[in-house]
Amino acid sequence: MPHHSSGRSYPPVRRSATDLPEEYAQLRAGAPVAEVVMPSGDHAYLMSRYDDVRTVLSDARCSRAATVLPESPKLTAVPFDAGGLFTMDPPEHTRLRSLVAGAFTARRVELLRPRIRELADELLGPMAEGGGPADFNEAFAFPFPVAVICELLGVPFADREMFRGWSDAILSLTAHTAQEMLEHKLALVGYLQGLAAEKRRTPGDDLLSALVGVHDDEGPLTEHELITMAMTLLIAGHETTVGVLGTSVFTLLRHDGGLGLVPSGEEELAALVEELLRVNPIGDGGPLRVTTADIEVAGTKVAAGSAVIGAICSANRDESRFPDPDRFDPSRRGTAHLAFGFGPHYCLGAPLARAELQIALTALARCFPSLRLAVPAADVKMHTGLLVNRLESLPVEWG
Ligand code: HEM
Repeated sequence: MPHHSSGRSYPPVRRSATDLPEEYAQLRAGAPVAEVVMPSGDHAYLMSRYDDVRTVLSDARCSRAATVLPESPKLTAVPFDAGGLFTMDPPEHTRLRSLVAGAFTARRVELLRPRIRELADELLGPMAEGGGPADFNEAFAFPFPVAVICELLGVPFADREMFRGWSDAILSLTAHTAQEMLEHKLALVGYLQGLAAEKRRTPGDDLLSALVGVHDDEGPLTEHELITMAMTLLIAGHETTVGVLGTSVFTLLRHDGGLGLVPSGEEELAALVEELLRVNPIGDGGPLRVTTADIEVAGTKVAAGSAVIGAICSANRDESRFPDPDRFDPSRRGTAHLAFGFGPHYCLGAPLARAELQIALTALARCFPSLRLAVPAADVKMHTGLLVNRLESLPVEWG
């Protein structure tokens, strides 16, 4: 495949914080398997229809492990580290994932719910005292998911500010230099090694203690696997939730009824969160895979060794699957959206992310029933990058 030539660039550009890149509707209609140029200059095939995106996400010939081979096309100049769930295929992936899934269960998330509620209230209290207007990102969307991850991993309270500082630096795309990001990453790895040693000595009922204890026929997680897993959970679970929390609140505040749309019934609340997840993608594309064999998608032949991207954001707006797909419809049911992916890499943190969103929206609606935008919606800007979308700020007021 040719490298470094011109063509349609990926990710496509969006016009505003509220609309997906327009290009996707055209691609779904006329070029469901489109050749694009990634920021690295390498080419990829971009799939935009629901069924094709599902295929790319779940077909064993669309590999995660191959994305880190030196000869493979790259998304950016700096790919993910090898050795974590993000860069593995079965059977290595299956082993690691089932070891972690055994510890990171829906039951553990259920047990964590009361504590997640307290964490939400601890952040909303000071926001209310401040009197508004406030930036919802700063006051809540950013600190909340990292507080939850600290709770999940069992990071002691006294260390949380330090932990948050490192993770902010690692996740920030622009605010820190590469050197600073690396230093923070090393500091965080060092910290997690110390914490894991502590959990070995005195296990608690947190996930890190559980991960220290898990093992299968091949033995326990290695130290490297353990630390990489903790980092993966932090990276996969922090900025994604920050982004979706912000855009979800923005969606509700633009809709008649505002936070009054957050229902008290469990099932209705769950359905509202699913619809918010469908319309608020974490990015303007989807995850990268590299083909390990020749495949054919929607009649197009894709040669082995090609980069393929299943555009989750577009699949979730596919008109053949979702009637009136761009409309946020709180009464929509049973959509089977792909926001958490599909197949063997389906988001491991989905139960936690759902719990966080449900709890946050409920607490917010209770504390701030009159919450509204403090600026016109058109002034709210999306920070689009390669990894995860996030509103630059979300100014809100109440009372
Ligand atoms: C609204 C929030 C979230 C969204 C939309 C989201 C979305 C996704 C998606 C689309 C994937 C699949 C990527 C692929 O197929 O290549 C994924 C994987 C993953 N997510 Fe999430 N995620 C969210 C929150 C979380 C949280 C809170 C955690 C954990 C604390 C988490 C942990 C993971 C992990 C570990 C994987 C890799 C799974 C694997 O490769 O087997 N995510 N997520």
